[in-house]
Amino acid sequence: MADLDARLAEAAATFGTPSYVYMTDAIEARLDEIRQTLGPWFSLSYAMKCNPNPGLLKWLAERVELVDVSSIGELRLGTEAGWTPAQASFTGPGKRNFEIAEAIATGVGELVVENLQEAETANRMAGEAGKIQHVLLRLSPISVPKGFGDHMAGRPSPFGIDIEDAPEILPQILALPHLQIVGLHIYSGTQCLKPDAICENYRNFMGVFRDICAAHDITPQKLVFGSGLGIPYHPGDTPLDLAEIAANVGPDLDAFRQEPPFKDTQLILELGRYLVGEAGYFLTSVVTIKDSRGQRIGICDGGMNNHLPASGHFGMVIHRNYKMHRVGGGDGEEKINLVGPLCTSIDRLANGVALPPLDVGDVVAVHSSGAYGPTASPVYFISHPAPCEILVESDAMTDISRDFGPGTR
Ligand SMILES: Cc1ncc(COP(=O)(O)O)c(C=O)c1O
Repeated sequence: MADLDARLAEAAATFGTPSYVYMTDAIEARLDEIRQTLGPWFSLSYAMKCNPNPGLLKWLAERVELVDVSSIGELRLGTEAGWTPAQASFTGPGKRNFEIAEAIATGVGELVVENLQEAETANRMAGEAGKIQHVLLRLSPISVPKGFGDHMAGRPSPFGIDIEDAPEILPQILALPHLQIVGLHIYSGTQCLKPDAICENYRNFMGVFRDICAAHDITPQKLVFGSGLGIPYHPGDTPLDLAEIAANVGPDLDAFRQEPPFKDTQLILELGRYLVGEAGYFLTSVVTIKDSRGQRIGICDGGMNNHLPASGHFGMVIHRNYKMHRVGGGDGEEKINLVGPLCTSIDRLANGVALPPLDVGDVVAVHSSGAYGPTASPVYFISHPAPCEILVESDAMTDISRDFGPGTR
């Protein structure tokens, strides 16, 4: 912690605040942990939506075998960072025609088809391009165990083909001549800290994959298990124990892979926050301290505009207060509300957080900020400076800030 804090202090002193600091040692350790525990079954796909910073992507592209993109912009970022188009899958509802056409022309590995209309469009476009496009069919299971921060299935949902409609829809997609169904995809829930729920979900996935493959005579090359692996955001959250998950669901995965249709199938974990979330810190400096009607308020140089999830407005179970500390430590504790610089009362990073007494100029580090930071924040609101982004590799610090355009520097 002392070493980490010293690096955060150095980053703040060198590059200023507001800023995001991404610790590659922590991502490396996380990759090792996942590969050691779940590697016997799964390949990894980085869901870039959680953090598409080009500098970070470049680092990840050398270490993570697959990438998942959810827009043509993300596909471009992924290939610029070093992944080949063939390593990319393209998920997401509402893909526009030009995105589908460009993805096919670029040679995207798999288009993750979310509904019949999209399949028909992709088929037409692949035909026009003279190609057979590889496709994963995204399925929406009928239930999701309790314990996920956001449910993308188990209810009316824009994501994927509802499995009760599969008997009607899948034969139509399978008959399309310019698409080749190479596998299935499920991403039904995110941000889960309950190992039992994650294992139950993976067992549900295996059941769905088994049934769909049997009913439609599919021998999949790939099956995507949307990971749902969550990270601790709040004091008191218990981190996941991947070894426990592996011990729990491993025998089922072993048995699944012995079944004839799945003997040569690549199983893939598609994940974002579990890879990079805990490796990132958001640094914001106190600009003004105000005592107001019995409460102490620290007004900071970056708030909701830089870090929407930490302000509690990203939905799911991610609420205030994130874990945070005063960079440089300090003696004693004092309760304070931390707000950002926006002219709205919803711009609030902490309510009554206990920190060493803060002064103007002090820096606060908000933890678990490596995923869904700038990419999920309204950086243009009120045109305050956009946050810097810093990649820390051992002792080297690199400024990998993005240019958000006029008014944000
Ligand atoms: C299809 C899909 N894949 C991957 C992810 C990444 O989720 P997480 O960052 O929680 O791992 C999401 C998140 O919403 C998603 O919708």
